[in-house]
Amino acid sequence: MITSDSLREEVRRKYAEAAGAVTAGSGCGCGSGACCDGEAASTDFGESLYTLEQRGELPDAAALASLGCGNPTAVADLEEGETVLDLGSGGGIDVILSAKRVGPTGLVYGLDMTDEMLALARRNAAEAGIANAIFLKGLIEQIPLPADSVDVVISNCVINLSTEKADVLLEISRVLKPGGRLGISDIVSEDRLTEREQAERGSYVGCIAGALSKSEYEAGLDAVGFEAISVEFTHEVADGMHGAIVKAVKTSEPDAKGLPVVSPAVRAGCC
Ligand SMILES: C[S@@+](CC[C@H](N)C(=O)[O-])C[C@H]1O[C@@H](n2cnc3c(N)ncnc32)[C@H](O)[C@@H]1O
Repeated sequence: MITSDSLREEVRRKYAEAAGAVTAGSGCGCGSGACCDGEAASTDFGESLYTLEQRGELPDAAALASLGCGNPTAVADLEEGETVLDLGSGGGIDVILSAKRVGPTGLVYGLDMTDEMLALARRNAAEAGIANAIFLKGLIEQIPLPADSVDVVISNCVINLSTEKADVLLEISRVLKPGGRLGISDIVSEDRLTEREQAERGSYVGCIAGALSKSEYEAGLDAVGFEAISVEFTHEVADGMHGAIVKAVKTSEPDAKGLPVVSPAVRAGCC
């Protein structure tokens, strides 16, 4: 039987393998998106979603380990001195780019549950000469940071992988300062797709089957104290499934009674 824990362990194992392949230099194809979802076109995921200038700022291993479905640093409008949190930081690509943007007076946290990814990210950040980044081991469903401590939350193709998405949204709201904002890239489904149709288009660990729909994202963020919510599709990765940019501003504290009803822990036919 598939449980929330077994699914999370499958996700962890898959991304540990991806980190190992980059570290071993065996060319797992992460940079062409193959690790995130083998069925998708190579331009849908990975380093090709970053500008040439951004790629020039990165060690090769960080670019190669890119498993995202967008470029959250391009939409988050980071400013010098800000504190940023990257949920599911993987090989560290967005942490490195963000750390350069916020400068020496700013700080970037990268949070990931996979030891192999954390080790890769720490090596990549050191190679890039980054001194204002801290990589934390933990779950995005239980963020190991105090309330009201972060200006901006970014994330790249990770929230779809969570088995407890309501907890993730609540935690994002908790750690953001009042007026704090989020700029997330994620896979999002059109509202018309059923769970089964979604699962037919790709796997959970491949970022497809667990994706929220557009209206689930909007309602979930609204329920935990966000306004100015926008979910914008950028590129279609499968019929009715899109890479998307999700933006919002935290305007009130989350109300425990208003917990969002989003995505069951394990979707039917998810794997
Ligand atoms: C698709 S990769 C994206 C990595 C990175 N954001 C990028 O753009 O290259 C997903 C990452 O999220 C991490 N991850 C997945 N689910 C997580 C969870 N529930 N808590 C913490 N990290 C998680 C994985 O270990 C992996 O490094």
